[in-house]
Amino acid sequence: MRIVVLVSGTGSNLQAVIDAGESGELDVEIAAVGADREGTYGVERSAAAGIDTFVVNFRSYAERRDWDDALRGKVASYEPDLVLSSGFMRIVDERFIKLFEGRYVNTHPALLPSFPGAHGVRDALAYGVKVTGATVMIADAGVDTGPILAQAPVAILDDDTEATLHERIKVEERRLLVETLAKLAAGG
Ligand code: GRF
Repeated sequence: MRIVVLVSGTGSNLQAVIDAGESGELDVEIAAVGADREGTYGVERSAAAGIDTFVVNFRSYAERRDWDDALRGKVASYEPDLVLSSGFMRIVDERFIKLFEGRYVNTHPALLPSFPGAHGVRDALAYGVKVTGATVMIADAGVDTGPILAQAPVAILDDDTEATLHERIKVEERRLLVETLAKLAAGG
């Protein structure tokens, strides 16, 4: 299974996929890692691991549509079986979703459909729920609305901050992601 991974930040989910590939737990080939901005640690660590990288910088395009065209074209040029959003903080357009329909996998640090959007951890804390978690899903044209592939719960502790809670969620998120990719690689 050839995958292209999109990142906006540190890419710790991506690192889990790289590690699982190296240990043989996961049979995937990371064709490339791309970012929407310069200077991400996700791209840096991929380059260090010898993986092809690219940046389609959102801020370099005056028109949103041109950025969408550039991103879609770049990802498609690697002919991936699957595209993985690993903390990619941009909504892609319908043309991207259509081209990779059912093959664009995303993760979210909450139990969807609760707390969608960019602040899933903060929103769950603020609401006061006692259990939140991680979700792996197929991305569709909405914000965190696609079909759910897997979920894992994480209990919220009384003294949790957004940072401590997010760290515990990310442990589950990484495990769930590798497990789900392994199932997709084996079973389609
Ligand atoms: C993950 O929790 C992801 O769900 C959220 O941002 C985090 C990305 O972490 N959107 P990383 O860049 O993989 O370390």
